[in-house]
Amino acid sequence: MKNFFAQNFAIVLLTVALYPFDTKAQTIPIESKDNAIVLQVGTDKHVDMIYFGGKLSAKGEYDYIGKPYLPENSTDYYNSAYTPSGSRNLLEPAIAVTHADGNKSLDLEYVNHTITKINDDVSLLSINLKDPVYDFEVTLNYQTYFNENVTEQWSVIKHHEKKDVVLNKYASANLYIQAGGYWLKNFHGYWAQEMRPEEEKLTHGIKTLDSKLGSRTDLFQPPVFMVSLNKPATEDEGEVLYGNVEWSGNYRIDLELDPANNLRLIAGINNYAADYTLKPGVEFTTPKFVYTLSDKGKGEASRNLQSWARKYKIVDGEGPRLTLLNNWESTYFDFDEPKLSNLLKNTKELGVDLFLLDDGWFGNKYPRNGDHAGLGDWEVNKAKLPDGIAFLTKTAKENGVKFGIWVEPEMVNPKSELYEKHPDWVVKQPQRPEYYMRNQLVLDLSNPKVQEYVFSIVDNLFSKNPDLAYIKWDCNSIMYNAYSAYEKNQSNFYTDYVFGLYHVLDRLRAKYPKVPMMLCSGGGGRVDYGALKYFTEYWPSDNTEPIERVFIQWEDSYFYPALASSNHVTNWGKQPIKFRTDVAMMGKLGFDVVVSQLKPDELAYCQQAIKTYKQYSEAIWHGDQYRLQSPWDNDVASVMYVDQSKGSAIMFNYLVNNRYAAGTHLPILLKGLDPDKSYAISEVNLYPGTRSTIANATYTGKFLMTVGINPDIREGRASVLIGVQEVK
Ligand code: DGJ
Repeated sequence: MKNFFAQNFAIVLLTVALYPFDTKAQTIPIESKDNAIVLQVGTDKHVDMIYFGGKLSAKGEYDYIGKPYLPENSTDYYNSAYTPSGSRNLLEPAIAVTHADGNKSLDLEYVNHTITKINDDVSLLSINLKDPVYDFEVTLNYQTYFNENVTEQWSVIKHHEKKDVVLNKYASANLYIQAGGYWLKNFHGYWAQEMRPEEEKLTHGIKTLDSKLGSRTDLFQPPVFMVSLNKPATEDEGEVLYGNVEWSGNYRIDLELDPANNLRLIAGINNYAADYTLKPGVEFTTPKFVYTLSDKGKGEASRNLQSWARKYKIVDGEGPRLTLLNNWESTYFDFDEPKLSNLLKNTKELGVDLFLLDDGWFGNKYPRNGDHAGLGDWEVNKAKLPDGIAFLTKTAKENGVKFGIWVEPEMVNPKSELYEKHPDWVVKQPQRPEYYMRNQLVLDLSNPKVQEYVFSIVDNLFSKNPDLAYIKWDCNSIMYNAYSAYEKNQSNFYTDYVFGLYHVLDRLRAKYPKVPMMLCSGGGGRVDYGALKYFTEYWPSDNTEPIERVFIQWEDSYFYPALASSNHVTNWGKQPIKFRTDVAMMGKLGFDVVVSQLKPDELAYCQQAIKTYKQYSEAIWHGDQYRLQSPWDNDVASVMYVDQSKGSAIMFNYLVNNRYAAGTHLPILLKGLDPDKSYAISEVNLYPGTRSTIANATYTGKFLMTVGINPDIREGRASVLIGVQEVK
């Protein structure tokens, strides 16, 4: 945000005159490449956030930023860096507690702060706060990724009171933003309808984005959002803040437009049914809230976050990805060894790296022949696979491909041996009727025995099958009747569930640091950066109809890098295989089709597409993404990826409207190239027997970004990929 303080010095002076700065106050600026967050410790020892916007050239001038305007008689808590509850604050708190003596008031005063340089890019500011009356402390942490303009913020809470303290709200972060209007873009969805955007101008009061679903919490609403400041941002213009709560459970994001017209943003774990009991001396570390701010529009904000995610968050984010053939939609639960042997041959024939065996390979007393039984019993089904997984890894090896497997280890079918043996491991109300989603219930991961069991499911698979090269980790049910037979304090359950899940994943990653794992949840029901710390990729949606997918992938790309988006070519929809494959190539390519039923041309096309994909994978996986033309406002959606050297790029174009004469009537301007380089342009991924209408030619980057090229999209040419290669 370039608020009016930053725009010119005259205005700074005027502002200072209007809102005198506190000469005794201590200013703590947190700078990244382009931005600064400025905190201030007042003479009252309260820590406030007085600025979030463009970095100033003279560091000393941060001291001249005055306190924000406050209406008469208001307390000065509006811009608190971590707003407490029950004292003089009357707005939404970041933290609310019930002390050991039952008192519900909290005040937090500055004690000291430290700045730790973690490396040339990353630094951590930690500010220690303490209540002057109660022995209660909070440390606010701001981890800055300088080059990426990204900040992760979290809090550590502890106390030394005589008895337990209850945390009634315990947010990760509390920001205060000043602008001339705030436009919130958030997302809603359901199964196969993920990432549907909505944008609105915030009005006074609180808009809360949250989830109370317990597990696969993104089903109705994912924990990502953006706020444009001063006016709605476009791809290349305007100030915009992106945020994501790194938490795979119930989250809550409050956006409060306060009486002074400023935006108070409070994000973290949802305190719904989750008052957390904290013992004396024990530290409670909140999840992180990650955000980035750009004054050059949505495209730059996405590239900041994507680059941060590849570098610092997603497992092996700077490494390669495996192309694969999945059998879910080609067999469902109906397979045996001969069928899978053929699919392994097909995997090789197609030319992908790995075969992924999906649901249905386990359960004996209650075989997993449908979704009503067997979940929880992770023994190989002897009728389908008499020679076990070892036979499949061996056959894969013989075919020169890798082998991966599906699990859904957090779940149980009531029709299972696990449920019979351990009903107390299941999340359910003991005195109420069970209620199911997909005929299943959630295991109680707050219980260390359940954590051990879930860990051992995956650990056993790896130790018994050392060649296992990939895991698809599914999670198909939300939590109804949330109750833990293990927890002494039920209010800790929702939060401890996620800590339990992360504990299991921490152990797995310590033992198997790089094995690719897909985060799946009957679609995109669980994507956030808390989970992606453990996964190499995620499944955006079960909806793989390619036009739907253009929209879903477009919206996901605001927050997540392409290499993490598992896109499978399936038989959803009426589009030809070229369209389906071209769309899936804008991410991590996989197939879930019956290869033996492909026509010779279709197979030849797929084989060649996999080669094209590998040729451009550096740009798609690790390059910069540019959303050129939105599917929401145009007949044609266009997206391009440019590798880090700006030497190789690929442009994807799709017809998303079938009205009369829909198509590209104008050139589309490319982005992200070097204006001074020359690039050879050619249509790639042509279907066998078709000829391109685009002449191979060489242009400068300047031409391509100023005049552009027309991919000639129209009926009959609904999907066109253009390769851009530097000519030296
Ligand atoms: C839901 C997933 O989204 C599908 O891809 C598939 O793995 C099924 N679960 C299996 O039950």
